[in-house]
Amino acid sequence: MGNLFSSILLILLISFFFSFTTSKTQNFLQRGSSLSVEDDSDDYITSPDKSFTCGFYGMGENAYWFSIWFTNSKERTVVWMANRNRPVNGRGSRISLQRDGTMMLRDADGSTVWETNTTSTDVDRAELLDTGNLVLKDPRGKILWQSFDFPTDTLLPNQIFTTSTKLISILRRGDFSSGYFNFLFDNDNVLRMMYDGPEISSLYWPNPDWDVFQNGRTNYNSSRIAVLDEMGRFLSSDQMSFKASDMGFGVKRRLTMDYDGNLRLYSLNHSTGLWNIS
Ligand SMILES: *[C@@H]1O[C@H](CO)[C@@H](O)[C@H](O)[C@H]1NC(C)=O
Ligand SMILES: *[C@@H]1O[C@H](CO)[C@@H](O)[C@H](O)[C@H]1NC(C)=O
Ligand SMILES: *[C@@H]1O[C@H](CO)[C@@H](O)[C@H](O)[C@H]1NC(C)=O
Repeated sequence: MGNLFSSILLILLISFFFSFTTSKTQNFLQRGSSLSVEDDSDDYITSPDKSFTCGFYGMGENAYWFSIWFTNSKERTVVWMANRNRPVNGRGSRISLQRDGTMMLRDADGSTVWETNTTSTDVDRAELLDTGNLVLKDPRGKILWQSFDFPTDTLLPNQIFTTSTKLISILRRGDFSSGYFNFLFDNDNVLRMMYDGPEISSLYWPNPDWDVFQNGRTNYNSSRIAVLDEMGRFLSSDQMSFKASDMGFGVKRRLTMDYDGNLRLYSLNHSTGLWNIS
């Protein structure tokens, strides 16, 4: 009797231990598996160096977004969201890497809120890289889809900005839905900021009263490509450029189109977890 009791106790202890070790953070999601919104406190995908975390980010009971954020900022700073215009329910929602190769976000009622364009591809797993890029890879490690191609309001170092990407601000503080301020390559190859509101839209930067060259740009280079490098330098094919005031390696940075219409470069202070405008 005592033996039976201690065996049961042992089994209970072992399963208790495993339930702790298996529900912890992971670096990838395998094809055929999923994360559910209820696990939001302990079921995350993290980058190998732990800089970034990916999972459900919630506000209140019924608004959750599948997102990527900086692990070490004091206030959670989201850098990417899957369909920020449709938060999902805090119960029953699920992100899955389906057998057909797509990554899909479903709301509690089963409706599809977001999915990747990777149907019937050779997707094997979803991985969060140290750059903050969520990627879908095939078994050989080739990237078939990446969140870097679909920015929301933030550009991260090494994230290539092209003619098919733009940054759109959030609506207001605490509301992640798409707002009115856009940062994009215009049709004439020049990087611009545009207010695109319900009633009017207008270009407001660089100075719309000056021509391209007076603004220090060029419209001759049609490659329309820009990047913020790891040193904190921003370089664009239209010759727009700037440097972080704390230029150098090893600083976590982000370039964000803010809801007030300002494009700001931020650097993370590691000791305080707060963002400085750099
Ligand atoms: C998915 O979309 C991206 C960005 O638009 C594109 O580069 C990629 O080729 C697409 N993938 C597939 C499998 O269609
Ligand atoms: C256009 O811009 C790209 C990216 O900055 C650069 O690599 C390329 O040399 C430029 N082309 C010309 C003709 O200046
Ligand atoms: C980080 O913040 C602390 C406390 O405010 C400050 O002393 C330090 O200089 C900051 N570091 C950087 C790199 O700005």
